[in-house]
Amino acid sequence: MLVIKDLQVSYGAITALHGISLEVREGEIVALIGANGAGKSTTLRTISGLVRPALRTSRITFRGETLFGHDANGKYRAALPHRLVEMGISHVPEGRRIFPAMTVRENLLMGAYSRRDRRLSEAFERVYVRFPRLKERAGQVAGTLSGGEQQMLAMGRALMSRPRLMLMDEPSMGLAPMLVEEIFSIIDEINADGTTVLLVEQNAQMALSVADRAYVLETGHIALSGAAEELARDESVRKAYLGE
Ligand SMILES: Nc1ncnc2c1ncn2[C@@H]1O[C@H](COP(=O)(O)OP(=O)(O)O)[C@@H](O)[C@H]1O
Ligand SMILES: [Mg+2]
Repeated sequence: MLVIKDLQVSYGAITALHGISLEVREGEIVALIGANGAGKSTTLRTISGLVRPALRTSRITFRGETLFGHDANGKYRAALPHRLVEMGISHVPEGRRIFPAMTVRENLLMGAYSRRDRRLSEAFERVYVRFPRLKERAGQVAGTLSGGEQQMLAMGRALMSRPRLMLMDEPSMGLAPMLVEEIFSIIDEINADGTTVLLVEQNAQMALSVADRAYVLETGHIALSGAAEELARDESVRKAYLGE
């Protein structure tokens, strides 16, 4: 579904990604784990068009279509963020980035990429079924939600566009263990409903427990990849990321 080839990304003089390649197949949960500063968020931000690849040899395709890089006719393409949402890519950013002064309902509306969508109420209903707490709090100002509720809102907002692929950046950050469990079981449910997930986490334990496959990112390089179960058993992964 998503294929990334030789992706290089720099911020000025700092190179964050040194030519990484990875792929996500339809229906999977793929985890991208690694230490702080490894380039996890940069990877997601590039896929959703917020950051541009540094080299024209970098290539990202989604469902066979070139998002960034040279297409089959040799033409260079760089999709705009709104086009990526239309194609079915939705990003739940690190730190949630909800709009604190707006209500829950208004925040969700921001995730519906077209307000003319006749099926807007259906989109709300689907999100409210998945997150009953957001329905109860539809009129509440988002800044007054708890951390876990804000994460649910960020995920709900991303679901409003009915994505095929959800990019989730550190959904467990700052949450109490019980809430982390809840958020991860929701990720599992969203995936079971047919949404493919690329999940970025520092909480490698949790990420590997829900993922089908995983990549380990180290200072802008893919150090390891494989089935999540196998990586969870790998000694170097256990030492470096699972606190053993
Ligand atoms: N906006 C930015 N400007 C300059 N450097 C950045 C910026 N964002 C990230 N970086 C740098 O890029 C590298 C990768 O960062 P990031 O992708 O946020 O890592 P992670 O999400 O794995 O913690 C780090 O060295 C970070 O300091
Ligand atoms: Mg990050």
